[in-house]
Amino acid sequence: MKHELLEKNIGLLALCMVIAVSIGGLTQIVPLFFQDVTNKPVEGMKPRTALEVEGRDVYIANGCVGCHSQMIRPFRAETERYGHYSVAGESVWDHPFLWGSKRTGPDLARVGGRYSDDWHRAHLYNPRNVVPESKMPAYPWLVEKHLDGKDTAKKMEVLRTLGTPYTDADIAGAQAAVKGKTEMDALVAYLQGLGTVIKSKR
Ligand code: HEC
Repeated sequence: MKHELLEKNIGLLALCMVIAVSIGGLTQIVPLFFQDVTNKPVEGMKPRTALEVEGRDVYIANGCVGCHSQMIRPFRAETERYGHYSVAGESVWDHPFLWGSKRTGPDLARVGGRYSDDWHRAHLYNPRNVVPESKMPAYPWLVEKHLDGKDTAKKMEVLRTLGTPYTDADIAGAQAAVKGKTEMDALVAYLQGLGTVIKSKR
């Protein structure tokens, strides 16, 4: 029996398993690199503004991704709470993407427009200002740190190389658009843009 040979020879079994799993993996993963559904931006999506690009970096630098995912799964419990499930086309310009999986706090994929700018400022300064029972840390330094915009154009150039359709004018105006703004301004602008291309039910 050929199968008996396989079952009694651990090395051969492991090798055949690797081959079988690779074929399964390749047929599922490789096509994703070439499909429109994963590569094409959602209709109407605009590249992040210079201020939002900086805001995203503030989000990364302050470890928000450690408690907040940005990926609404296609299950009723999720879509009822957060709105339309996330689609791949919404993240095509995100490098790296910030889907995350740790949810100490709520998912933020569609938080844009859910609260006012003032709410976000009060909340980020000290979450207990607006949500008394909140366990989220306070980020009061965000209002003190000012951006100089020195690297903003460079960041946008790199994003353009990776496929984000920035114009020369966007890049030329980048520094002026962020200079003097605080990290709080940038972070709030970023949050308010999250997930707004696909209208949320909430
Ligand atoms: C230690 C975990 C933790 C970290 C780190 C954290 N948060 Fe939160 N966040 C929470 C929790 C818990 C809540 C729910 C309570 C509340 O609204 O304050 C929350 C709520 C929020 C909300 C409101 C979401 C909604 O739909 O009501 C926003 C926006 C938010 N966080 C943004 C941020 C940003 C931006 C950062 C980084 C600067 C951050 N959070 C860092 C735990 C965290």
